[in-house]
Amino acid sequence: MRLRYVPGQYQYLQECDRAITEPEKTGYKLNGAFKNDNPIHVELGCGKGKFLREMAIRNPEINYFGFEKSVKVAYRCAKSVFENDPSNYFIVYSNGDILKDVFELNSIERIYLNFSDPWPKPSHYKRRLTHKSFLDVYRSVLACNGEIHMKTDNNDLFEYSVEQLREDNWEFLMLTRDLHNSSYAENNVMTEYEERFVSEGKKINKLIVRRNG
Ligand SMILES: C[S@@+](CC[C@H](N)C(=O)[O-])C[C@H]1O[C@@H](n2cnc3c(N)ncnc32)[C@H](O)[C@@H]1O
Repeated sequence: MRLRYVPGQYQYLQECDRAITEPEKTGYKLNGAFKNDNPIHVELGCGKGKFLREMAIRNPEINYFGFEKSVKVAYRCAKSVFENDPSNYFIVYSNGDILKDVFELNSIERIYLNFSDPWPKPSHYKRRLTHKSFLDVYRSVLACNGEIHMKTDNNDLFEYSVEQLREDNWEFLMLTRDLHNSSYAENNVMTEYEERFVSEGKKINKLIVRRNG
């Protein structure tokens, strides 16, 4: 379903106390957004925020940031913030490629890439969130043992990502091409896209890698 642009969405995000808009423009460092030193987990492309919110509820000792580059989607995400939601997450309206500008180096424990846009044309591979240029950014903002957790239904994107990560020397901690029929399914939190794909009978790929050097 295509989301409609409604005038005032940007302003709504600016006024929403659960959203941070374009922090790269002000030089604001997100590490200071929470008044504690809890570990930071970031989701790139959080969509309407189901995964982000559910993870924040389950893990109150983690600080979550969900980046969403589409104003329409970020708006929908902010609109579905509940009054009694936990206070350990922020929606960030911005492009995930600015991580280096808004986080201290080596300060993120985990990055989630959930059902990232597949960009199927080779000329668009550089936009894939597991392209080498993004891996370089992740390596610089992730802590020494920081991890990337990736899920996708798209086999082509998954195999491309495995190759990119291997070539770039990331340490594989787990990999499955059928998450929901594996032992890793137990504590899995589903995203919106995942719910849809699973209901259509699609297999879900998942991998976890650790920064190595
Ligand atoms: C296919 S949707 C998946 C949404 C959600 N993760 C899920 O699994 O339900 C991908 C989302 O990522 C956002 N996105 C893509 N590239 C991004 C980037 N570089 N930075 C931030 N958001 C991005 C898109 O706008 C879109 O809302």
